[in-house]
Amino acid sequence: MIGDSEPLVLGIETSCDETGVGIVRGRTLLADAIASSVEQHARFGGVVPEVASRAHLEAMGPTVERALADAGVTFADVDAFAVTAGPGLPGALMVGVAAAKAYALSLGKPLYGVNHLAAHVCVDQLEHGPLPKPCVALLVSGGHSSILLVPDVASDVRALGSTVDDAAGEAFDKVARVLDLGFPGGPVIDRRAREGDPAAIAFPRGKYNDGTYDFSFSGLKTAVARWVEARQRAGEPVPVADVAASFQEAVVDVLVHKALKVCKDNGARDLLIGGGVAANSRLRALAAERCEQAGVRLRVPRPKLCTDNGAMVAALGSELVSSGLAPSELDLPADSSLPIGSVTL
Ligand code: KG4
Ligand code: ZN
Repeated sequence: MIGDSEPLVLGIETSCDETGVGIVRGRTLLADAIASSVEQHARFGGVVPEVASRAHLEAMGPTVERALADAGVTFADVDAFAVTAGPGLPGALMVGVAAAKAYALSLGKPLYGVNHLAAHVCVDQLEHGPLPKPCVALLVSGGHSSILLVPDVASDVRALGSTVDDAAGEAFDKVARVLDLGFPGGPVIDRRAREGDPAAIAFPRGKYNDGTYDFSFSGLKTAVARWVEARQRAGEPVPVADVAASFQEAVVDVLVHKALKVCKDNGARDLLIGGGVAANSRLRALAAERCEQAGVRLRVPRPKLCTDNGAMVAALGSELVSSGLAPSELDLPADSSLPIGSVTL
């Protein structure tokens, strides 16, 4: 058995539409239970906060039970609880934080309120081992697009760039709506793009060489919508695969370009990509190609660990316990705009 001396940590994630409960021992993943409300949001074309909060409330108890059963442990075995305290949807976060407090208080165990973005970075340790110090992390999802410099995931995470408007995943979702492809848009655009020509349409690459590490995707989204409307007005068919491929290429080109610029400017040799958009096949391929050219090692967790999940929260909780950091107070708040500088609350 892998060292029982390592802490058994149960992590709870409810910042958006996934109720995630993960259990780790040290850096070994024991359970990763998920209940998603994504289907309840599909007809609205985006996550509806009140619907997400209610779904978390219903899923919380059963998902915790499932994770314990999958891991083959009981509440008595848990050494510490961790929960996403922010950033995220306020009502959704509150459900997870309240549940985690109740478990910690009733069982007399420590509770660590953690940062969702740092958790996205830390999860990769479950798959690829300890993170190099420092590493650069590109986090791209429906709610966030950030480039972080990570000297130490337990205590020192710095935001170097972020989107000034839409998140990368949000751009995928909005363009999918324009193309009538449903929600969430990322997976279907990824699929349709495989039959298309990424060079068919020259869509703009916002802020490509502006000297910052920030992104902008709203101009790109508008350019795609205008291009499609013009075709429709002219009564011409819309080449969906070419639009999807050209749009996707514009997004991933900028993401990889900026992430590698951060690596170069900071002398970092390791790049981690996380968040739901990290599941994108073209992003993975282009990043692999350009990282090899640049002599940068690429780490991308498997797709289930890239999207929101409880394992990432447990992974960061375990790191905090091992680093000897103090747990949170039991009056810890849910902070929807928790800054990335705060790894823990
Ligand atoms: O991390 P995540 O599960 O939830 C948050 O938003 O925090 O990410 C979901 C986002 C959605 O916008 C979805 O369209 C996008 O990730 N996504 C993808 C792919 N799979 C999911 N985007 C591009 N390509 C994909 N294969
Ligand atoms: Zn996320």
